[in-house]
Amino acid sequence: MTERKKITLPYLFDKRARGEPITMLTCYDYPTAYLQEEAGIEMILVGDSLGMTILGYESTLPVTMDDMIRHAQAVRRGAPTAWLIGDMPYMSYQPSVETAIRNAGRFMAEASCDAVKLEGGREMADRMAGIVAAGIPCMGHLGLTPQSASSLGGFRVQGKDSARALRIVEDARILEEAGAYAVLLEMVPDRVCQIITERAHIPIISLGSGPHADGQLLIFHDMFGLYPRFKPRMAKVYGNAGEVILNGVKQYVREVQDRAFPQPEHGFSIKDDDYDELLGQLKD
Ligand code: KIV
Repeated sequence: MTERKKITLPYLFDKRARGEPITMLTCYDYPTAYLQEEAGIEMILVGDSLGMTILGYESTLPVTMDDMIRHAQAVRRGAPTAWLIGDMPYMSYQPSVETAIRNAGRFMAEASCDAVKLEGGREMADRMAGIVAAGIPCMGHLGLTPQSASSLGGFRVQGKDSARALRIVEDARILEEAGAYAVLLEMVPDRVCQIITERAHIPIISLGSGPHADGQLLIFHDMFGLYPRFKPRMAKVYGNAGEVILNGVKQYVREVQDRAFPQPEHGFSIKDDDYDELLGQLKD
């Protein structure tokens, strides 16, 4: 395990002030969290995308707070020093400010998260302000917000015309004024992201929104070919773990069927004396 110091808010703001890009990935389980911590990832999002990548739902909407807490706990055990963000699932914050604060508090108390994230702009400003007033750092999420994919017309780029782009620029400012410590822009045109980043006083993180943000996020399963249904254009594939696993499992199936696995080195033996004694005892 690395000797890295705990990532804190001042660390993230200092990096932004120095113009050094912040690294962020999604993560949902202990072994992957361990590897991300080892590799030096600074911010980890336990995204409600786990509904699709881990639980196999068609969307993120069925994900519950209990699902999120269980996975966030596992990630925290693997990544003790990363800045850990719990993603607030569908209907865990939309109904009221009180619901939002209560559920944000669960991420902090039950999973040792450092912060939470919620989707939406001006319409969520009161939830953002309530969570922040409760002492919980909260990240905003604008552009493509998967919990509202239905009303946004699907998983597509947001803010392509000037009126919609202006709304995103304004929403970013409103969230910052409501107390957001950072804003994630998902699938927003690169120059719109640049305008928001230049105007902001908080870290702006890009997911498919170009190079001008203060930091970059990718969905872990997209980067390693682990989500079979589709590969978003914004995801760079850094390795095809899905193919490696598939080939390994196929080989295992063949070897078991051919009795090529297991070999003696994969098992444990009993000494001849003990074995003979056992046979004798069984005879008695
Ligand atoms: O759930 C998630 O992983 C997210 C990303 C798409 C930003 O919210």
